[in-house]
Amino acid sequence: MKPGYSLMKHYLQFKDLRAEEYAYLFERARIIKTRFKNYEKYQPLVDRTLAMIFEKASTRTRVSFEAGMYQMGGSVVHLTTGDSQLGRAEPIEDSARVISRMVDIVMIRTFEQAKIERFAAHSRVPVINGLTNEFHPCQILADLFTYIEHRGSIEGKVVAWVGDGNNMANTWLQAAEILGFTVHVSTPGGYEVDPALAGIRDSGCYKVFADPREACRGAHLVTTDVWTSMGYEAENEARRTAFADWCVDAGMMAAAQPDALFMHCLPAHRGEEVSAEVIDGPQSVVWDEAENRMHVQKALMEYLLLGRIG
Ligand code: CP
Ligand code: NVA
Repeated sequence: MKPGYSLMKHYLQFKDLRAEEYAYLFERARIIKTRFKNYEKYQPLVDRTLAMIFEKASTRTRVSFEAGMYQMGGSVVHLTTGDSQLGRAEPIEDSARVISRMVDIVMIRTFEQAKIERFAAHSRVPVINGLTNEFHPCQILADLFTYIEHRGSIEGKVVAWVGDGNNMANTWLQAAEILGFTVHVSTPGGYEVDPALAGIRDSGCYKVFADPREACRGAHLVTTDVWTSMGYEAENEARRTAFADWCVDAGMMAAAQPDALFMHCLPAHRGEEVSAEVIDGPQSVVWDEAENRMHVQKALMEYLLLGRIG
């Protein structure tokens, strides 16, 4: 972190930052994105290094963090379970102590949230959650920025969550509590969100619907995710049956606001959680959403390493 900037923050779940910090990050992401689009060099992180630790597969998270760090003048070290001592049972605490003496910031994609928390507790440098079984805060950061770009403030709006009560759903609930919007959640029985696991206090930030079309009624944003998240592959067949009616299709989009957006964190399975007509249709902003991972994460890394600019 920059000399004299002593307040170390981790980003392990969405509620690690406050509403006014999100307002700052969205504005920084807008500025950083505009500079990038105009080919203006902006390299505040020269000589800084990001370590990326992947215990699960990734396309967007890897490319967005790696490209973003290089654009800001820094470098990246990429580690996986298979090619590091993490896969040979070196304690996570020891890995944290060692890695954080050599790099300036760490991004981790892993299984249990407890694992990233243990790493962070023994890290000398900021740690960012690149997805755990419980949360995916960088994705929701990008989704919110994308919503704001297209429609303005999300405060007071309705987001329909159709599908699994998973890491994305949990993170949407935390975001709703902090930023003042409502999530209409519809999951099949047995796959409900658990407010305790999601880490929310105010049940007023979400409403549960048995019928996914009812959840979409009047929504400003409709969003979904894969039926089977990474790490749950053994449940694939049971989930295919349970989730058959939780496919975001034209009928569900028709129940939402006429100008409702559709989002999906990707990767997507057309014909399962979303129809091709919807994800490839005019209300879908999934490509902006994917690109914005890079812009918001650049703003996030800048904030965690340098504090507020200006
Ligand atoms: N949305 C997302 O995190 O994508 P990857 O799994 O490809 O990183
Ligand atoms: N819920 C999905 C998101 C993938 C980006 C998973 O955890 O696999």
